[in-house]
Amino acid sequence: MDFLEYSLLLLIILCFTYFITWYLRKRWTKTSAPIYWPFVGMLPAIILNFHHIHDYITKVLTETGGTFEFKGPIFANMDMLITCDPANIHHIFSKNFSNYPKGPEFRKIFDILGNGIFNVDSELWELHRKITMSIMSHAKFQTLLENNMWGIMDKRLRPILDVFAEQGNSFDLQDILQRLSFDSITKLLLDHDPRSLSIDVPHVPCEKAFTDAIDALLFRHIMPESCWKLQKWLQIGKEKKLSQAWEAFDEFLYPCISHKQEELMKKTAKDEDFTFLAAYIKMYNSWNKGDLGTLQKFLRDTFLNLMLAGRDSTSSALTWFFLFLAKHPLVETKIREEIQQKMHLKKDENLKFFNKEEMLKLVYLHGALCETLRFFPSLSLEHKVPLAHDILPSGHHVTPKTKMIIPFYTMGRMETIWGKDYLEFKPERWISEQGKIKHEPSFKFPAFNAGPRTCIGKNMAFTQLKIVAATIIHNYHIQLVEAQNISPTTSIIMLVKHGLKVRVVKRV
Ligand code: HEM
Repeated sequence: MDFLEYSLLLLIILCFTYFITWYLRKRWTKTSAPIYWPFVGMLPAIILNFHHIHDYITKVLTETGGTFEFKGPIFANMDMLITCDPANIHHIFSKNFSNYPKGPEFRKIFDILGNGIFNVDSELWELHRKITMSIMSHAKFQTLLENNMWGIMDKRLRPILDVFAEQGNSFDLQDILQRLSFDSITKLLLDHDPRSLSIDVPHVPCEKAFTDAIDALLFRHIMPESCWKLQKWLQIGKEKKLSQAWEAFDEFLYPCISHKQEELMKKTAKDEDFTFLAAYIKMYNSWNKGDLGTLQKFLRDTFLNLMLAGRDSTSSALTWFFLFLAKHPLVETKIREEIQQKMHLKKDENLKFFNKEEMLKLVYLHGALCETLRFFPSLSLEHKVPLAHDILPSGHHVTPKTKMIIPFYTMGRMETIWGKDYLEFKPERWISEQGKIKHEPSFKFPAFNAGPRTCIGKNMAFTQLKIVAATIIHNYHIQLVEAQNISPTTSIIMLVKHGLKVRVVKRV
C-alpha cells in the first residue's frame, strides 16, 4: 500500500466511525450537542446542521442550560462560547461593557464595513454615535422621516400593490419590502431616490448586494478563517459574491456621495444645518486620532453602515410580521380594528397620515411587531471577544482568545425566558394591564441590542414599521401562496430563504 492508499483507508475508517458513533448517540441518547472528534473537534456537527443552524443552536442551548462551549478543529482558532443566558447577556453588553468591544476579530469578518459605526470601538465609535444620534434626534428629522415614508406609501407601494391586486398574480413580498426599505433609507440619508421599488421591479445591483453580503458574513463566523480567506483569494463561493457586493456598493455610493458633496458646496451655511453628509464631513475634519483613509472612503463606510442598519432590519421584520399575520387571522383583524378605532376612520375610509404621537396609540400593532422580533430578530446573532479574562455569571471562564456568540434568535425561543407559552405568537405578551406597551429588559429581548451599543434607530424603525404595516393592513389583505417551504436563511440577518410568495386583495 502506498501513502495515498493508506490515507484513503484512514479517511474511510474515520467516516465509518463518525457515522456509527453519530447513529448510536442519536439512537440511545437524546442529546443534540455536537460530538467532539480528534483533530476536527465539533466542526462536523456544524457542517451537517448548517442548513438549519439557528434552530440547531437553539436545540443545543435548550438542552445544555443556555451556555455551550464549542471546540473547533485544532489550530483553527475556532473555539467558541455560545450563550443565551440573560445574566451573561446583561454582564457582557452592559455591566462589563468595556471588556467586550467589537475588537479586531469582528473587524476582520466585517471588513466590508470599514470605519463605519458597526465596526469601530472606543473614541471613534463614541463620536459616530454622538453625531448620528444628534441628527436623528433633531426636530426636523422625525418630520422628514414621516414625509419620506408616507410619500413612498402613496406614490410607490400602494400603486404597485393595486396592480398586483388587479392582476391577481403572486409576487415575492420580501423583495418588495426590501426595495421599499432600500429606497427609503437612501432617500433619507443621501436625499437620493434609487427607484428600485417600481412595477417593473428593476435590477439595482446595490440593492441586491446587501443580501449577498450578509449571506457570506455568517459563513465567516463559523468557518475557520483560513477557509474563507482561501475562498476569497481564489474568488469562489460566498467570498466571490461578497467581493461582487463590495464592488456594487462602491459603484453606487461613491458617485452618489460626490454628487451630494457638489450640491452641498453650492448651499449656504444656513441650508447646511441638517444633512447627514455635512455632519459627517465635519466629523472627519475634526478627527485627529488615527487614519480614517480619504474623506470619500470614510463617507462611503459611514453611509454603507447606516444603509445596512436601515435596509434589511426593517424589511426582515416586516416580512416575518406578514407571515405571522397570514397564519393568525385573528391578530390581523384586531390590528385592523385598532387602526380604524384609534385613527377615527369610517368604514372604507382611506388611511390618513398619522404622526409619531398618534402612532403611540397603536399598542396592539406594537405588540405584534415586538412578538415578531422575538421570534425573528432581524440580526440573528452578535459576536464578542473579551479584552481580559473574565468569569461570566453562569460560571464560565472566558479569555481574550474566547470567541463568544450570542444567538438572539435562540433568546426569543427559550421557555426559561418567556414561560410555558413561549412558542405561541401572542401580541398580548407586550401589553400591560393598563393597556400600555410593556417594556421588556434588553438582556431578555435583545432584538435592538443591549447596553451602550443599543440600536440608535429603534424609534425610527418603529415609525417605519407602523406606517408600512398600517398602510398594508388597512388597505389590503395578504394571502400566502400555498405549498411553499418557509424557513430562515442561514445568514446574519434573518430573511425568508426563498422569499415570501403572496397574493394581495384590495380592501379599501
Ligand atoms: C427592526 C429594525 C431594527 C432592528 C431589529 C435593529 C437592531 C439593531 C441591533 C441588533 C444592533 C446592534 C448591532 C451590532 O452592534 O452589531 C443595532 C445597531 C444599530 N442600529 Fe439598528 N435596528 C433596526 C433598525 C435600524 C434603523 C432603521 C436604523 C437607522 C439607520 C438603525 C441604526 C442602527 C445603528 C446606527 C446601530 C449601531 C449602534 C452602535 O454600534 O452604537 N437601526 N440595531
